[in-house]
This record gives sequence, C-alpha cells and structure tokens, in this order.
Amino acid sequence: MSFPRRVEPELLDQLSADDPRAIRARRDVRRANTLMMNARIMAAALAEHGAGLKPRTIVDLGSGDGQLMLRVARRLAPRWPDVTVVLQDKQDIVSGATREAFAALRWRVETSATDVFDFLANARPSSVDVVTSNLFLHHFVDDQLVRLLASVAQLARLAVVCEPRRARYVVRASRLLWAVGFSNVGVHEAVVSARAGFRGKELSALWPTQGDWELHEQAVGLFSHCFIARRASPLPIGERSECARVAHIPGEGAAEPTVRPAPPHPDRASAIRPLPDGER
Ligand SMILES: C[S@@+](CC[C@H](N)C(=O)[O-])C[C@H]1O[C@@H](n2cnc3c(N)ncnc32)[C@H](O)[C@@H]1O
Repeated sequence: MSFPRRVEPELLDQLSADDPRAIRARRDVRRANTLMMNARIMAAALAEHGAGLKPRTIVDLGSGDGQLMLRVARRLAPRWPDVTVVLQDKQDIVSGATREAFAALRWRVETSATDVFDFLANARPSSVDVVTSNLFLHHFVDDQLVRLLASVAQLARLAVVCEPRRARYVVRASRLLWAVGFSNVGVHEAVVSARAGFRGKELSALWPTQGDWELHEQAVGLFSHCFIARRASPLPIGERSECARVAHIPGEGAAEPTVRPAPPHPDRASAIRPLPDGER
C-alpha cells in the first residue's frame, strides 16, 4: 500500500555543524548508509552506467561530510583514476582526514559550501561528467525537484541518485533504529526521510522531457530507491568535459572557462526503459 510523499524539516538541517547532536546524527547517517548499502549501490550504478565515460569530474550534491562519496571512490578509483570530485553541501563539514583519504586514492577534492540551488545556478552547462546524490533529494518538494533535476540535466551526462524507499515497512524499520544505537535526532531523521522518499517512477516523472536521456528507476536492496539518467547520445569528443573543476564554484572565484557549452539537443521525449519495479 502506497502513501503520499511528506516533506518535513529535518533537524540536522537546523543544528549548527558543531552541535553534539548534529555530530551524532551525522554518525547515524553514515550507519544508515551502511545498513542501506548505499555506497555499494551507488558505485555499482556508476560502474554500470558510466562504463565508457571515463569521467574526469563528479559533483556530489548534498554530500554532507563526504564519507559516502569516499566509500564510493574506494570502489571506483582503480578503474576511474584522476577524478576530481566536488563535494557540494550547504554545510562546510569535510574533514582534513577525508580529504587526505581521497588524495590517497588520487582523487582531487573540491568543496562548495553553498545552497544547492545557488551552486547549480552558477555551474556552467555540460561542465561535469557525472552528478551523484545520496539521501539528499528527499529534502525537496516536487516543484523544487523539477528545477533541481533540470539543472542537473544541463550540467552532466550521467546522474545517479540514491534515496530512501518510501514504504511503510521502511518507516517502521526506521522507528526501531534506536535499538542499534541511533540517537533521537538520528531516528527522527530516518523516519522523516523515509516518509519523504521515493517509489515507482516518481523521479523519472520529474526529469525534464527535453533531450535524449535513458532513465532507470527502481527499488534496490531492502531500503533504497535508485534513479539513473544517462544522456543517450554522447557529446562529440571536442565537446566533452576536459576540465578538472566545475566552471564556477560560488565563493571560490571563477575558474578558467575550459569547457565549451553543450550543443543544443533536439527535443525528444525521454526514453524510459521500464525495469522491474521491485517495490515492496
Ligand atoms: C542526510 S544528509 C546526506 C549526506 C550525504 N549525502 C551522505 O549520504 O552521507 C543531507 C545533507 O544535505 C545537506 N543539505 C540540505 N539542504 C541543502 C541545500 N539546500 N543545499 C545544499 N545542501 C543541503 C545537509 O547539510 C546534509 O549534509
């Protein structure tokens, strides 16, 4: 039985980064990602749908402390060397140790501590290869998601999103997370996130209809919901992203304009390949 999305404020978004409750809640987010197997899911989706892309630049929206992306990088670095990953989050919470761990994998890290809509408004079209996002899109109502996804489609050739699956048993399981040591704030965030999560083809329906995109959306694992958008017609070699940074990261000054904007794509209905839904 389905129930409608309910987007509510999350406590973690209201606490300051160094509040002890926020620090515990971020630890809970890391543990939630482990329980959901999101690093493995994200890395597998990137490896499958990004095969042949040889990405140079990945932007992770709502990246938090960057730990999830680090776990993804550990899985992908052997096949995708010399990647620059832009960790984008309104909070500036990427530690020195996390940066060093990326460096040990030979992935460069940039951070952008801005609101996601400001970041996307200032990013140059087609300036990155891949956009990822984990446990982030559920923060937004549909109107905001339409804008956000339209910007992502302008920015990258591949988008991979991992979110909570909206199902009653996921909400019920989230309420029990205190039993495995989650804090009050962590349990609250998990319940609110599950109610605001996704199912079916909800994100596909919000993706822009312009352009030639392959969309995949399905339940994965026990608790996750995955959305993938891949540009079906690759850009000509000369049009590909060759830079190692997003053209302009607010607050960090303008970078050299090393990437030409993508050519206009003919308007075509998006090609949604139906996959077994697997919703529970
Ligand atoms: C549940 S955490 C997920 C963090 C990370 N993706 C992970 O999986 O560990 C959600 C993150 O979204 C960030 N966030 C919420 N609203 C945002 C916005 N409007 N712009 C940028 N970041 C935002 C929060 O600061 C928080 O770090």
